[in-house]
Amino acid sequence: MESQTPRGVTTSSLSTDDVTYDRALRPAQFSEFVGQETLKDNLKVFIQAARKRDEPLDHCLFYGPPGLGKTTLAHIIATEMGTDLQATSGPVIERPYDLTGILTNLKRGDILFIDEIHRLQHVVEEYLYPAMEDFSVDIVLDKGPAARNVKLNLEHFTLVGATTRAGLLTSPLRSRFGVSQRLNYYNPDELAQIVRRSAEILNVPIDDDGAFEIARRSRGTPRIANRLLRRVRDFAEVMGDGRVTATVAHESLLRLEVDERGLDEMDRRILEAVIQRFGGGPVGIKSLAVAVGEEAETIEEIYEPFLIQEGLLKRTSRGREATPSAHEYFGAGAPGEQAKLL
Ligand SMILES: Nc1ncnc2c1ncn2[C@@H]1O[C@H](COP(=O)(O)OP(=O)(O)OP(=O)(O)O)[C@@H](O)[C@H]1O
Ligand SMILES: [Mg+2]
Repeated sequence: MESQTPRGVTTSSLSTDDVTYDRALRPAQFSEFVGQETLKDNLKVFIQAARKRDEPLDHCLFYGPPGLGKTTLAHIIATEMGTDLQATSGPVIERPYDLTGILTNLKRGDILFIDEIHRLQHVVEEYLYPAMEDFSVDIVLDKGPAARNVKLNLEHFTLVGATTRAGLLTSPLRSRFGVSQRLNYYNPDELAQIVRRSAEILNVPIDDDGAFEIARRSRGTPRIANRLLRRVRDFAEVMGDGRVTATVAHESLLRLEVDERGLDEMDRRILEAVIQRFGGGPVGIKSLAVAVGEEAETIEEIYEPFLIQEGLLKRTSRGREATPSAHEYFGAGAPGEQAKLL
């Protein structure tokens, strides 16, 4: 997830700036969380039902591309359930016992949030099964001949897992989640609403057209919408009177090389490679990765889902293929050139 253009507007990397703003702009409750209506409605029912029965919520899994609100939802659940949240992530937990301390400290109903849960070590995953199912874990006390297994009882907690790669989750783990929900890309109207909300928090004067201009170029992703808003704000403050209008947004985004459809440099590089170097495909993901100088996993996780959803790329059993709409997109000249002519 670590490539970045010098201008810092790629979609793949999470800068420290992003982390700070993610926190500042993160919706704290459902009423502030825009879009994902079905998911939200379902979760509200599950939460209400659990509260009514005075029971902790079932374990929840959220999956989908980066920046769509998985972490945000975990925090909202804790707020709505009135419980505390402990956060960790798959790669951080090296050994099962790294989890023991966290698990034994959880109070009834607390949320244990595990980000990137597909990256849990196998032994850690197995250690989690009884914790999720029976709310107990085995630990070994003493060493050598005196060593003995002791069962530790845990409070009834709720595990919330997040992953960008649901396909990499083992089925035993997946089956232990009572709730499993996919997050989808947002439409421009929803993103415009998010941009207006963020602008208000950041004190950026913006009109509806300005918000929409940013929204429709945000790759369906709230985190990118917030990132573009910050960059456009810089242009508005330095080049104008600080107000974000459609014209200011349009010109700033051109300079950031975010094109009319919101595709960034790597999106274009991938499509260009498929079309020009591999004759439109099909091409295997590994060859494509080498051609564009990006890791196969990053392409699969971040770029491909959006290009597929936009109808520009197709995934077939023989590899990736450019769609007619992708050919058309490049047919009228390179998009960078095209953008400059507008
Ligand atoms: N539905 C939403 N309404 C308003 N803002 C949102 C929404 N979803 C996400 N955001 C904004 O986008 C930021 C990124 O969201 P979040 O960190 O929850 O994404 P994520 O899915 O956990 O990403 P990653 O896979 O990279 O961990 C949030 O801090 C928030 O500002
Ligand atoms: Mg997250």
